[in-house]
Amino acid sequence: MSKIRTKKAAKEQEGHRPGEALRVLISHARIQKKVAEMAREIRRDFPMDSLHLIGVLKGSIFFLADLARELGGEVSFDFLGVSSYGKGTDSTGEVKLTKDLDLSIEGLSVLVVEDILDTGLTLKYLLKSFEERKPKHLRVAVLLDKVERRIADVKADYCGFTIPNEFVVGYGLDYDERYRNLPDVCVLQLESRGKT
Ligand code: IMP
Repeated sequence: MSKIRTKKAAKEQEGHRPGEALRVLISHARIQKKVAEMAREIRRDFPMDSLHLIGVLKGSIFFLADLARELGGEVSFDFLGVSSYGKGTDSTGEVKLTKDLDLSIEGLSVLVVEDILDTGLTLKYLLKSFEERKPKHLRVAVLLDKVERRIADVKADYCGFTIPNEFVVGYGLDYDERYRNLPDVCVLQLESRGKT
């Protein structure tokens, strides 16, 4: 990672559109280090298992890709689509399955890979659905946890960073499908959100 980018990243940046600003919350270097630590912890708990990773589309794609490469050993993937947010930054509270798993998880050691745990409603819905499919183990890894927003009674087994109640984008996370490709996790500041 170049020094120039890190220096630039520390400043507030213009977003894609007028009225949108970005502030780096977690740099790409910190994310990489944390993902490697999480992978070591998961492998310590499941040294011999073939791990079946389930990525929740689309926000978890970079996290899953990096975690899978750090895990080593036997790993397989599947993906599932849910939508709990409309176009804005606030949850509708409704969880909708937009794409089911391709493969059966019966008897497998499953690791659900989520980008962010917010109200917890999505994860609660997913865990219920997965438990019914009789996996051997069912664990959850999340990169980010907004603990103070929790409504549902759920907890991740492996968590990267606890973050404050701010809307974040980057490293897979989007606002209106934009900003997923930022390497860092950034707080998105919307001019309209600051006004009362
Ligand atoms: P929950 O059901 O409220 O826990 O929401 C989980 C989903 O909401 C995540 O998988 C994200 O897709 C989305 N989400 C929650 N907070 C944020 C955020 O700060 N930025 C972008 N997406 C978010």
